[in-house]
Amino acid sequence: MRRLLGRDSVFDIIRERRAARSPGRGAGAPGLNCLVVGADGRAYAIAWRLARDATVATIDAVPGNGGMALFARVVDIPADGDALEQHIASARIDLAIVGPDDLVASGLGDRLRRADIAVVAPSREAARVEWSKRFAKELMDEAGVPSAAWTAYPDAAAARIALEERDGPVVVKADGLARGKGVFVAGDREEALAALDSGALGKGAVLLEEPLAGDEASLQTLVDGETVVPLPPARDHKRAGDGDTGPNTGGMGAVSPTSVLPDDEARDVAEATVAPIARALARRGTPYRGVLYAGLMRTARGFAVLEYNARFGDPEAEVVLPRIEGDFAGLMRALGEGRLAEHVGASPPSFSDRAFVDVVVCAQGYPGAPRTGDRVEGLEELPEGVYAFHGATRRAPDGSVTTSGGRAIHVVAGGASVAEARTLAYEAAARIRFPGAFYRHDIAAREAVAVS
Ligand code: AMP
Ligand code: GLY
Repeated sequence: MRRLLGRDSVFDIIRERRAARSPGRGAGAPGLNCLVVGADGRAYAIAWRLARDATVATIDAVPGNGGMALFARVVDIPADGDALEQHIASARIDLAIVGPDDLVASGLGDRLRRADIAVVAPSREAARVEWSKRFAKELMDEAGVPSAAWTAYPDAAAARIALEERDGPVVVKADGLARGKGVFVAGDREEALAALDSGALGKGAVLLEEPLAGDEASLQTLVDGETVVPLPPARDHKRAGDGDTGPNTGGMGAVSPTSVLPDDEARDVAEATVAPIARALARRGTPYRGVLYAGLMRTARGFAVLEYNARFGDPEAEVVLPRIEGDFAGLMRALGEGRLAEHVGASPPSFSDRAFVDVVVCAQGYPGAPRTGDRVEGLEELPEGVYAFHGATRRAPDGSVTTSGGRAIHVVAGGASVAEARTLAYEAAARIRFPGAFYRHDIAAREAVAVS
């Protein structure tokens, strides 16, 4: 029988440490004061992983969510204003990790670095690999990174004219950030024109791309100048419905390791797809310092890059961070202080062989406007080795948890094999109850057979 835990014992540990927190602690005193910026499952995963390190004294989450309130200090201030910089000074923060793409793109990394602390987020200029797909394409061509053939147009009207000259499948993309809604894989010209007319691409530049066929994998790396440290690869499940049907979402679940890009190939693939970009950015005088995520397609001709993200993936962080062994906070601090090469030279990172699966329990209506405000039941009934990483929840004064967004709870389970982790995750997902809750039933189904 597995032991039923009311909550992860790591929460008890961190609460004890917080109780011992010294308000007068000076900068550089033992134990890191950490700040996690974000409110989603990814931010929860980062805070949860930091909470397991003996080197961490305190964890603050801005703005955080109902689940993070259990073990971190949830600080109710805007993540993009002066209050955050004041908080960093008053709470004596040593290390800040920024989760969300829009905050990274707004240059929060640059602002936080002015406080002279370790910051895991690239500069606004280096983060351009995410916030301008056109820039990313130019850089890939310059650096010799394989990716789909492309053409950029100043706006949708210009792309429309270009489509008159061509037919057949084409990928239509907004140049800028579009909350995951700016990419359409069109089967023919009619579909492509409908995408251009939908208004979803915004007013800016538009790219038309050659469609690539194959299997997708996500490779998150730590990049500090020209130093590139790959983390274990993962696979996301982007469509809302079983069998990859229905609309695109922010990600319905994830698995690591993945048979699409096995762990032992991560270094070579990072060498081909991330290192040339790191060198190109350094050469341009805008070196990258932070997490650089390559969204990859395994094609008949090898791996091609679909996109770069200037941050951890969500839900990839949820399955990869639990596999990082040793002092994660120390690794993040070295990255954030620009000492990554020296740090990994002295203490190379190690990754557990355990498999992790994330099944996201979503609120009715997601990825459209989700139903919110429903009380979540079953959080106290999870077996050992299974965690509820809150994605979008609030915590009421009476301790009850309610949904506050679409990807409400990430059920994350570890196992000796993907099959074992998957079975545990699904057993637990069935216990998380709120009206209209739904999840995909085939997360990691392929890996459960292929990787053991
Ligand atoms: P992106 O945000 O660029 O990664 O695109 C989101 C999703 O659209 C990817 O995860 C792929 O499923 C799909 N996609 C993007 N570009 C291509 C492409 N050139 N060929 C096929 N599918 C693509
Ligand atoms: N999982 C895809 C992303 O984080 O953008």
